Amino acid sequence: MATTEETQKPDAATATDEETATLEVFRYVPEEDDEPYFETFEIETFEGMTVLDALIKIRDEQDPSLTIRHSCRMARCGSDAVYINGTQRLACNTQVREVGDPVKVEPLPRFDVIRDLVVEMNEFYDRMESVEPWFQPDHEPETGEEYLQSPENRRNIDTVLDCIWCGACTSSCSPAATDSDFPGPAALAKAYRFYKDEREGEETRKRRLEMLESSHGIYRCHTQFNCTEVCPKGISPTEAIMEMSRDAVKEKLRFWR
Ligand code: FES
Repeated sequence: MATTEETQKPDAATATDEETATLEVFRYVPEEDDEPYFETFEIETFEGMTVLDALIKIRDEQDPSLTIRHSCRMARCGSDAVYINGTQRLACNTQVREVGDPVKVEPLPRFDVIRDLVVEMNEFYDRMESVEPWFQPDHEPETGEEYLQSPENRRNIDTVLDCIWCGACTSSCSPAATDSDFPGPAALAKAYRFYKDEREGEETRKRRLEMLESSHGIYRCHTQFNCTEVCPKGISPTEAIMEMSRDAVKEKLRFWR
């Protein structure tokens, strides 16, 4: 029979729910700070708590000046990509208890910091824009005509369509860091999405390929697969780039047939 003392103990579920975690958070306000620094916060965690939950808790309860960018909180909008314990991740898709203690949170490497964990995304968007990420059909539609795509062709681009423009892959890419004219993995995965779309027609496909194999294009990829490893949506930009590179070489070899 349980004693009074035993019945007053917290049950196992409650006990495991009361862990604490240490977060070392990158802080930097360029207009005010000479240099970036890390600030340490202790927080109580709960089962399933994400790093984004933790950062919001710190902002709400300890330091309202902590600046982070987020929106959907469900790995859809791509706005909260940060560098957690040495890897690019979405803060809303990373659980505090799964990344070890302390949890070190930094802004995306190779992006300029606006404030704390918020980075400047304009250069990333320029890279995306450089590959003409819009549908260019091979003919004007007749009135009421739909641009139909075969299920098989649609399956070719299934995974790359999931890109949420978070910038994690581009942040992990060495060639993108050293060549601002290289579109980088996210933009090249987006280019692949249109390159493979049969509705654009052969002429546009060839023009896209020529554009992509410029001196700052697909051949700059080092096939390190860093981008593939960090993509929170399971996309492999490297494989898309490799396929386009192979196609570009084959186009050239036609001369020898
Ligand atoms: S907050 Fe939207 S992806 Fe994380």
